[in-house]
Amino acid sequence: MRMYDIIYKKRIGEALTKQEIDFAIGGFVGGDVPDYQMSALAMAICFKGMTYEETLYLTDAMMRSGDVVNLDRFNGLCVDKHSTGGVGDKTTLIVAPIVACLGARVAKMSGRGLGHTGGTVDKLESLTGYRTSLSSNEFLSQVEKIGIAVTGQSGNLVPADKKLYALRDVTATVDSIPLIASSIMSKKLASGAHSIVLDVKCGSGAFMKNEDDATELASAMVELGRGFGRNVRALITDMSVPLGAFVGNSLEVYEAIQVLSGKGESALTELCVALSSNMISMALDIDIDEATRQVNEAISSGLALSKFKEWIDAQGGDTSKIDDPVLLLGAKHKLEYKATGDGYISEIDAEGVGVASMLLGAGRAKKDDEIDFLAGIELRARYGDYVKKGDTLAILYASDSALFDSACARLDFAFKLSNKLPKQKSLIKKII
Ligand code: URA
Repeated sequence: MRMYDIIYKKRIGEALTKQEIDFAIGGFVGGDVPDYQMSALAMAICFKGMTYEETLYLTDAMMRSGDVVNLDRFNGLCVDKHSTGGVGDKTTLIVAPIVACLGARVAKMSGRGLGHTGGTVDKLESLTGYRTSLSSNEFLSQVEKIGIAVTGQSGNLVPADKKLYALRDVTATVDSIPLIASSIMSKKLASGAHSIVLDVKCGSGAFMKNEDDATELASAMVELGRGFGRNVRALITDMSVPLGAFVGNSLEVYEAIQVLSGKGESALTELCVALSSNMISMALDIDIDEATRQVNEAISSGLALSKFKEWIDAQGGDTSKIDDPVLLLGAKHKLEYKATGDGYISEIDAEGVGVASMLLGAGRAKKDDEIDFLAGIELRARYGDYVKKGDTLAILYASDSALFDSACARLDFAFKLSNKLPKQKSLIKKII
């Protein structure tokens, strides 16, 4: 078999066989297929697409390129959630303890943030002492004991994706549905959960800018997961405005505690209840109405918040800030960002708010940048609100007041005012 022939076959739009896909991925990971040939194949896939079978073979080859976690000891109760990324998305911090306190198991590996989107691991590390690398024994025994463990990506999980994504990132081959779907699903499948809920974002702050593309990606991932015998559901959700009112690491932990205490912002709470309900409906095999009732009860009874504390404590994090969450809003400098005119807020561009928060120190422009856990943005005004000149739209948090100017300049583009009430947006657009 020759890589040249495989590239040519895809270039003329023919479907590749399982053997050809195994040859390409195995050779690439093993170093026999050079980057330039793999890039050419990725580009051919971008232009010609892949059938369902090809995408399944690709996902399988990538999943098997490294370790595959076996969670069978948890008798089908392990449930995972994946978000395609967004601004202010702290849902893992909220849904994981909710579903764990209801009897499902969460054995989750999460990532760090890059650019305008944040990572769950960074948020958790804002609770001093939280250990994001656990040995595999520690990880599994914590799941056994308290039903939940969340670590950074460790071990040798899907090395094919790490290597391929690095190439795609610099060869303009990221935005292809079969490549994105196989990349995400190979990692989810290798992580071992029996049931998976996908939160596929669409809008300015997301990969998929419109609902049709998000639906196509979500359907491809749901079909793939089911092809591997897992329970999978996907929610298509709006990411044209930031999720919730806080963006930035410790600020988002603060907001997660608010939701778990039953005092959360309504859109964020609605999404977390929907995600958790779908997760436990699959993990516990109960209908969605009963699942939703149990989720609301877990929040109002305080059980979910107690589970959050138990989880952070088990992983060595400082729980004093959970008891006194305002400590999480303790940045040295704060600045009120004010409206420069009157009108309805017709846009709070998610990407713009994410970049402004990054400029305050909350995110990384490059992979190795240090982040400032206390930096970020609190939105005081919401999409559709009527504001007057001088009203506070947001509070900026930073350790260095010199960072405020560039962040404010970015926010000037993110907020738009209109003299007409803007159209209402639905947060959850579809469930697949
Ligand atoms: N996220 C991933 O993990 N992979 C992609 O290809 C795109 C987004």
